[in-house]
This record gives sequence, structure tokens and C-alpha cells, in this order.
Amino acid sequence: MNDVLLRTENLGISFGGLKAVEGLNLEVRKGQLYGLVGPNGAGKTTVFNMLTGVNLPTEGTFFLDGEELRGKSQEAINRKGIARTFQNIRLFVNMSVVRNVMVGLHNQPEFHCNAFTSMFRLPRHYEEEATMRDKAKEILKIFDLYEERNNLSCNLPYGKQRKLEIARALATNPKLLLLDEPAAGMNPNETEDLMTIVRRLRDEFDLTILLIEHDMHFVSGLCDEITVLNFGQTLAHGTPEEALNDPEVIRAYIGN
Ligand SMILES: Nc1ncnc2c1ncn2[C@@H]1O[C@H](COP(=O)(O)OP(=O)(O)O)[C@@H](O)[C@H]1O
Ligand SMILES: [Mg+2]
Repeated sequence: MNDVLLRTENLGISFGGLKAVEGLNLEVRKGQLYGLVGPNGAGKTTVFNMLTGVNLPTEGTFFLDGEELRGKSQEAINRKGIARTFQNIRLFVNMSVVRNVMVGLHNQPEFHCNAFTSMFRLPRHYEEEATMRDKAKEILKIFDLYEERNNLSCNLPYGKQRKLEIARALATNPKLLLLDEPAAGMNPNETEDLMTIVRRLRDEFDLTILLIEHDMHFVSGLCDEITVLNFGQTLAHGTPEEALNDPEVIRAYIGN
């Protein structure tokens, strides 16, 4: 069972009377591209919120590489190796593209600028700054955003902002990347381009990716396994072909 990276055990959360997620048992193996799908309000983003320390689960728990992470802070979970993007893009709009990626790099121990060296602008501060900038530029090249590195992130077209968010998450050097509707609002060309990037992240960066997406071409084209949620419950699980053809899943989608 060593190849399991993420395991959730009966994971769930209630908001007041509403059980937003209930009894979720996921097993995501290292190197897998895994899909989490379901109609709006199914609880998908809430799963990400629990896995990143935004929401504390009210039942069950979860493990990364065998280590229980339930109850840890967002920063601690990120340092342990889980990074995410948001359904609604969250960038530092008044910062340049390259700076946004450098913010992600700050979480890595090698760049943990201590307040003393940065406050007094000691040589070590400038060295770190330069190294971080170089690393950020390398990351931008993967996403074909290098040319735009000095633009303000708010001036990027929407599809590129989505890619920049992934670049920033990648900069935290995660083991597991959570993508919340990464193709939302993208045109077909941008979506194809993103599929290629997601495959590269797995193949070249040894990443495991759990993604939420409504575009079933995207999900079926990338994921070898999916879980379908509806009203917080697990409706089906298996290959995209198996799970999406499950009669209960078809009913859930038609009913919505
Ligand atoms: N912090 C919160 N407080 C109260 N209700 C919430 C909160 N977060 C999510 N919910 C509710 O949980 C349900 C699932 O939401 P969400 O996870 O965003 O669904 P999805 O991402 O699948 O569209 C919704 O009914 C939503 O209103
Ligand atoms: Mg959502």
C-alpha cells in the first residue's frame, strides 16, 4: 500500500444542519491524475477546503504519505506537500506575474528569508531574491508565461491567469496538487494546452494531481480514476468510463 499518496478515511463535514460531505473514502496513488466530479453544490470544493486546512473536518480524517494531516494549519499542510488552486482565481492582482510565483516559493525552507536578513537588506537577502527570481522564471517557462513575466497579473487574459495560479501552486514544491476547475472559462485551445501541461507536471515533476472539473472531455482525457459526488455523498467511483455511465450518476446529472 506504499504507493498511496492521499488517503481519506470516512471524511466529512457539516455546516449547521447541512452535511456538505459525508463518508468520503479516497485513495489517490502516487503519480495518478485523479478526478473529482459532480453537479454544483456536490461538495467538491469543500473536499479541497478540508484537505488544505481551510475547513476542519467534523468526521473522519486524511493522510498524506501515511501522515495524518487533519487539524494542521493551511501553512503546515502546504509545507507537508499539498498545494491548490481556487475555483475563483486568487492572484495578487497588483503584483507582476513573476512576483506572484515568487510568493509561492517563499514557503520553501531554502527560501525562508529570516526577518533579520530581509529587514536590513543584507547581502544574503539579495542573493536569495535573485535565486528566487531565476527559479520563478523557470517555472513560468513551463506555463508559457515567461514573456509576460513583468506584466501585472491582472492584465493577463483569463486563461493565462488560471495558468499563473497553477504556476504559483507549483512553486511551493508540492507532492499533491489540487486543481479546482482549472479549465473553467477557457476556450478549447486553452483547454488542450492545459491538458498537455497537466500531463507534463505529472511526468516531469513527479506530481500527483487531484482535479475538479466539469469539462468531461478534460476529465476523461486526463484521469485514470474518478469519484463522483452528489449532495456530499459518493455516487460512483472507477475509471471515467465506468463511473460516468453509472445509472445513478446519469440520473444525478439529468436531475440537476
Ligand atoms: N463555509 C461554508 N458554510 C456553509 N455552507 C457551506 C460552506 N462551504 C460550503 N458550503 C455548502 O456546502 C455545499 C457544497 O459546496 P461546494 O463544496 O462549494 O460544492 P461544489 O464545489 O461541488 O460545487 C453547498 O451547499 C454549499 O453552500
Ligand atoms: Mg466548487
